[in-house]
Amino acid sequence: MEIVICKDPQDVGKVAADRVISYLEGLPTPVIGLATGSSPLALYEELARRVEAGTFDFSHGLGFALDEYVGIPRSHAESYHSVITRTVVEPLRMDPARVRVPDGLASDLQAAADEYDEAIELAGGVDVQILGIGSNGHIGFNEPFSSFSSRTRVKTLTPETREDNARFFDSIEQVPTHCVTQGLGTIMDSRVAVLVASGERKAEAVAAMVEGPVAARFPASILQFHPRAIVIVDEAAASKL
Ligand code: GLP
Repeated sequence: MEIVICKDPQDVGKVAADRVISYLEGLPTPVIGLATGSSPLALYEELARRVEAGTFDFSHGLGFALDEYVGIPRSHAESYHSVITRTVVEPLRMDPARVRVPDGLASDLQAAADEYDEAIELAGGVDVQILGIGSNGHIGFNEPFSSFSSRTRVKTLTPETREDNARFFDSIEQVPTHCVTQGLGTIMDSRVAVLVASGERKAEAVAAMVEGPVAARFPASILQFHPRAIVIVDEAAASKL
């Protein structure tokens, strides 16, 4: 694991953007794995600035989102399909047909999840996986005690995650109870994993991921075994290291 400590969240975005571009540049069909949440927003904004400036072109890239809620329409403003469209596809001028988000509305959710894993394989695998971290150590929506070898599948959201995400909905009752998420095994197949985190609120999670035991109770700790994991954090998020 490589740990990069930056001054503030904007700096995290810039340093992460430099890294992401350096790993994707020159690949004939670059494949990016996309995370939602507030953590990667500074990175996406920085990538968008570079697209705007003409120094980065990702129109030929492919994207695969990590996860999606089960049961809310794609058109819902907080579906991850909408969030990825708003924060990544449009600002980075990606082709919407080249960006996929797991299907949380399929009549057979597991069949759709299996097909999603196949699509990632057919694309040649994920070159750079962007990750945030939940306060309970989840990556994607792999909650504590997720299997280290898991593939894309349906998971139940913990009460803690539903509370964390209630800020995006009118009330906690509206937060879905289930999701479809890439598994820890799927995430570990990425060639490079770039995890970004900012703020004091993430300090304990970052310390547990980097310095704690590798344990299913703290899913992000599996990244200690990733051949190329880069953790880019600001000083506040690094304060417990
Ligand atoms: C969400 C997402 C994760 C994200 C995490 C942290 O539940 N499924 O991919 O990393 O929560 O979110 P934030 O960056 O807003 O703290």
